[in-house]
Amino acid sequence: MTVLGLARVWALVFSAGCAAAQTPDALQAGSPERGKALLLQRQDSGCVLCHQVQGLPAGGALGPSLVGLPERSTKAQARERIADARRFNPQTTMPAYFSTEGLQNVASPYKGQTILTAQGLEDILSYLFLPSKATP
Ligand code: HEC
Repeated sequence: MTVLGLARVWALVFSAGCAAAQTPDALQAGSPERGKALLLQRQDSGCVLCHQVQGLPAGGALGPSLVGLPERSTKAQARERIADARRFNPQTTMPAYFSTEGLQNVASPYKGQTILTAQGLEDILSYLFLPSKATP
């Protein structure tokens, strides 16, 4: 199955529980350029506040460095982790980026919405899983 095919299956699986899920047809293959922009963003995603990421300026150290992630994780595992890290560690400080379940103190404009869209998550994954020399 192609990466895009997997992403579509995944979007279908998740659309059951996620208000903001996009229709699988709207999902394109991840764009590493858009993923990089999302990773760097400090308002919504905030990834670099906690993580060092390959090819990006110094990031935070609240979470493990994501350099070399493809050597220790599959894309599917990373997708699940970013979607809802609570599945792996209920005490995690990492936000659940693709879940609307069990969140606290969500400001009313954001209620029922996931932090990342399904497409945004694919974009981030495509950057994190680029071969190391190819980072844009
Ligand atoms: C508030 C801090 C914080 C933010 C923000 C954060 N993370 Fe994390 N992340 C963590 C911590 C802590 C862990 C270690 C596992 C755990 O405790 O859940 C982790 C683990 C991970 C892992 C697994 C790493 C491994 O070595 O297997 C990935 C992948 C990951 N984060 C990606 C992201 C991405 C992508 C974003 C932004 C969309 C993000 N994280 C935002 C704190 C954070």
